[in-house]
Amino acid sequence: MSEATAVVTGGASGIGAATARRFALSGMRVAVVDLNREAGEALANELGGGASFHSCDVGDPDAVERVAHAIEQEGPPVRVLFTSAGLIANAETVLDMDMEAHERVWRVNYLGTVHACRSFGRRMTQRREGAIVTVSSINSFMPLPLPAYNPGKAAVSRLTQLLAVELGRHGIRVNSVAPTYVMTPPLRARMDAGLRDEKKMMAVHALDRLPAPQDIAEAVFFLCSDAARAITGVTLPVDSGWLAAVSYKTFAGGVPWTE
Ligand SMILES: NC(=O)c1ccc[n+]([C@@H]2O[C@H](COP(=O)([O-])OP(=O)(O)OC[C@H]3O[C@@H](n4cnc5c(N)ncnc54)[C@H](O)[C@@H]3O)[C@@H](O)[C@H]2O)c1
Repeated sequence: MSEATAVVTGGASGIGAATARRFALSGMRVAVVDLNREAGEALANELGGGASFHSCDVGDPDAVERVAHAIEQEGPPVRVLFTSAGLIANAETVLDMDMEAHERVWRVNYLGTVHACRSFGRRMTQRREGAIVTVSSINSFMPLPLPAYNPGKAAVSRLTQLLAVELGRHGIRVNSVAPTYVMTPPLRARMDAGLRDEKKMMAVHALDRLPAPQDIAEAVFFLCSDAARAITGVTLPVDSGWLAAVSYKTFAGGVPWTE
């Protein structure tokens, strides 16, 4: 995959940055697309290999289109798109939620994914090669009290399926990863502010460790590799067993081995 570019939206921090590093390690040129210029430029410098940074709000379709054009002009063809740009939200009710913040979350998390998949997907279809991975969440499978974030992630998973079918006939695969809690800067800040409880978090996983950003990066790398050539349209949980444990560990009759 050396003569190819991997584009990572939200690549300046957290899961996106870890994934940018993983693709750079494989020899691909990496293009980091993010709002955070300082961190994005620092990462592009660190990665080397012709890596570039592009300042862009993924919520703005024209800006995404301009960046897609620029990236295609400056380096080898884009074979990988990972759409990690996103905002994390706090618990609220549907009746009282802040509608301005609600719209912002949808614009970045859902529409930002749509915009990137359209701009880069159109170019991939012309070459009939490429792999796209979006970022969903464990809460796309089950409800959490995050009324903008949670339905938005469910929508990203469904969008991923639509795109998998639409682009599959052009030889392009589209999958999603669904992480559980990953200790990235926004989650760490919420823990420090008392907005997430570590004990509650750890009590609902099968494993006693949460995934690191690198664990998500490895799953994305696999989904984009030839080893996953028969996989498209899936949302892959990378969740330390959250999906298995969350109902098991809250069984009304108690959990036998903890009684
Ligand atoms: N950390 C977790 O626990 C967790 C769990 C499940 C899913 N996710 C998802 O993973 C993705 C990455 O989150 P993270 O935890 O790495 O957060 P992060 O804040 O470390 O990284 C997100 C990056 O997106 C960028 N960004 C935000 N809005 C943008 C915009 N409008 N245009 C361009 N870039 C923008 C930020 O500047 C930042 O660099 C998000 O979609 C998030 O919802 C995170």
